[in-house]
Amino acid sequence: MGGESRQPIVEVRGVTKRYQAQSLDTPDVLRDLSLTVHAGDALAIVGPSGSGKSTLLNLIGTLDHPTRGQVIIDGDDVSQMDERRLAVYRGHHVGFIFQDHHLLPQCSAIENVLVPTLAHRSLRKEGDPALRAQALLERAGLSDHLHQRPGQLSGGQCQRVAVVRALINKPKLLLADEPTGALDRKSAVALGDLLIELNQSEGVTLIVVTHSDALAERLGCVRHMRDGLLEPVR
Ligand SMILES: Nc1ncnc2c1ncn2[C@@H]1O[C@H](COP(=O)(O)OP(=O)(O)OP(=O)(O)O)[C@@H](O)[C@H]1O
Ligand SMILES: [Mg+2]
Repeated sequence: MGGESRQPIVEVRGVTKRYQAQSLDTPDVLRDLSLTVHAGDALAIVGPSGSGKSTLLNLIGTLDHPTRGQVIIDGDDVSQMDERRLAVYRGHHVGFIFQDHHLLPQCSAIENVLVPTLAHRSLRKEGDPALRAQALLERAGLSDHLHQRPGQLSGGQCQRVAVVRALINKPKLLLADEPTGALDRKSAVALGDLLIELNQSEGVTLIVVTHSDALAERLGCVRHMRDGLLEPVR
């Protein structure tokens, strides 16, 4: 991580976050936090429950605004963008994976993967999204399951579909919040394999919040979060 010649893709600069619903006697959730992530990095963020990991990931993913400070993604200050621009920005540049797969139960695996392409017709110039969806699902080991619905797939298979869906629009950034939290050990290992393979082959920058030491140690860099701050790199 951190080759100086490479472009920073994420720059979090002096970010403080305080939720409106917080009571006055609780400290800020993020406290003047800074973080730089370079294009192509694979970063794990680990730390105790409540330390602010999801809050940080949501700010990087432009799902929420910082109270103070800046979030710069690939040179664009997203803390300044309005909601309409942000929605377009997210659709093009950011893929999300959550603990639960959030697939549409009535749609097949490949239909679920194609949902994010519906809102971004301009991306279709880059080839048939159905072919890309099929190729990615095959790489994820799901060749035999393209037309099955989530109810007909295992939890691990659903989560791999969710990874492919997050990548279908070729985002620069793939953000995952406890992606293996609901999986057994074998499925968690398979999901880790898939994330690492896609980081390397697609060049997508990967930021993973995880409670799994096994997954964190497989990524290129691990940062520890505590009480709203990232500990210095050891
Ligand atoms: N929408 C909200 N309104 C008020 N407080 C919030 C909100 N979201 C999170 N918090 C608080 O912010 C703190 C950090 O929460 P966050 O979800 O970022 O922690 P986390 O490190 O992801 O924890 P976990 O490992 O349990 O997922 C917690 O004290 C939480 O209660
Ligand atoms: Mg969390």
